[in-house]
Amino acid sequence: MSEILLQIDGRDVEAKEGMTVLEAAQSAGISIPTLCHHEKLEPYGGCRICSVEVEVRGWTRLVVSCVYPVEQGLVVRTRSEKIDKTRKMILELLLAHAPDSVQLLELAQAYGADKDRFKKQASFCIHCGLCVRYCAEVKKKNAVGFIDRGARKEISFIPKIAAKECWDCKECFPLCPTSALQATYVLTEALTSSSPSSLQE
Ligand code: SF4
Ligand code: FES
Repeated sequence: MSEILLQIDGRDVEAKEGMTVLEAAQSAGISIPTLCHHEKLEPYGGCRICSVEVEVRGWTRLVVSCVYPVEQGLVVRTRSEKIDKTRKMILELLLAHAPDSVQLLELAQAYGADKDRFKKQASFCIHCGLCVRYCAEVKKKNAVGFIDRGARKEISFIPKIAAKECWDCKECFPLCPTSALQATYVLTEALTSSSPSSLQE
């Protein structure tokens, strides 16, 4: 793999071909906020909170750093008025769904986002897909998935698989940026009975 030299926030950063801008920044100790990214998972690019500005041949544009590949001579800015405004808007929209999420509230404070800007549509899940992708890609179990589409999209445990796999695993729980995952798990359990083995029905 060949070395690629780029500039992030005015610093020269060396990266390997195939790395994303987010990975290059992280390897240089430069922090970019993320919500749907996990180093063990395939790049997803769902939440866009990691958006940064890149300058290529004199043109500046916003790109999603967790999926954007490094390029020789790329100039990257991780903070600017435009970036901060974008992150603020994303956070305000997500907070309408998950107003109590500690992770979102911390980011909201950093970017001056107003958690009450948009009408609450508390679904608690922000569709980051971390739980679904972790279970499929890392655990290879597919015990949790999305049902429905668009605004009605929500996560759901597959009772039959959950009964066999989830009780001793729960590795997805700490990944969830909201309380939606645990709540859905508890609900699945409660709906099927009080004991984990009865999730099989
Ligand atoms: S339940 Fe949590 S981890 Fe799963 S998609 Fe929703 S917000 Fe993400
Ligand atoms: S962390 Fe990059 S799009 Fe979510």
